[in-house]
Amino acid sequence: MVITLPERVESMTPMKKTPKVVVENLNFYYGKLHALKNISIEIEQKEVTALIGPSGCGKSTFLRCLNRMNDIIPGIRVEGRILIDGCDIYSRKADVIQLRRKVGMVFQKPNPFPTSIYKNIAYGLKIGGQHSKSEIEGIVEEALKGAALWNEVKDILHKNATALSIGQQQRLCIARCLAIKPEIVLMDEPTSALDPISTCKVEELILDLKSNYTIVIVTHNMQQAARISDRTGFFLLGELIEYGETKKIFTNPCDKRTEDYITGRFG
Ligand SMILES: Nc1ncnc2c1ncn2[C@@H]1O[C@H](COP(=O)(O)OP(=O)(O)OP(=O)(O)O)[C@@H](O)[C@H]1O
Ligand SMILES: [Mg+2]
Repeated sequence: MVITLPERVESMTPMKKTPKVVVENLNFYYGKLHALKNISIEIEQKEVTALIGPSGCGKSTFLRCLNRMNDIIPGIRVEGRILIDGCDIYSRKADVIQLRRKVGMVFQKPNPFPTSIYKNIAYGLKIGGQHSKSEIEGIVEEALKGAALWNEVKDILHKNATALSIGQQQRLCIARCLAIKPEIVLMDEPTSALDPISTCKVEELILDLKSNYTIVIVTHNMQQAARISDRTGFFLLGELIEYGETKKIFTNPCDKRTEDYITGRFG
């Protein structure tokens, strides 16, 4: 018997992806300071989303809302909703520890622990769960490979991490974040302390990582946003002025303020 399979019908409209993060009417206050004003945005999975805007406009505040890192600051208030995979991360039922494992973060200045390269990565695994020594060794290797650092450090794993160059330290911090197996990686100006060669390595790494992770990066470097991101959001004075495909934002923005910012007229 011959079974004929139906021919694949190409759909005229591409399938819409489900966003990884949906932010709805987010307002954020530090005491009386209204730092984020009615932000709504959908962050697509396995894409790089760049956040740009002048100093003090709320980029870091917004990023820290996505893994509730602001919670420890006294006097803050959050209104609105942030859904990750459809779950409200600010609901009473939300598990903040789980959330921070799912949403990792890399900071502006590399902040390795003052211990060996190996222990920098193994530490989070030891406190996070039950792993045998050989499992930990495997995860350390995988994380260092994932952060494009393995070849440079495989023979010096027990050397102190502070002996690495700043660019290597930043990739180590990325490896430490990846070892926890996050799904979203938040990066707050991750290359601003790096030289151009290390910056280039981290940019290549970010492009590699996006096949497995959803990445949100804050950057003051417009070329960097244009080079590595799929979508860009422009913040100004706590508002998200414009958000869309990076190409469109940089070549044909809708809002005059976006245009003025990307052409260097202010900020
Ligand atoms: N811990 C805090 N307590 C009180 N106010 C804060 C705190 N952190 C930030 N702010 C204020 O919130 C506003 C937004 O700051 P935020 O750090 O999010 O801006 P940013 O866009 O990341 O700036 P930059 O580009 O300089 O890093 C600023 O007015 C800032 O002074
Ligand atoms: Mg900031």
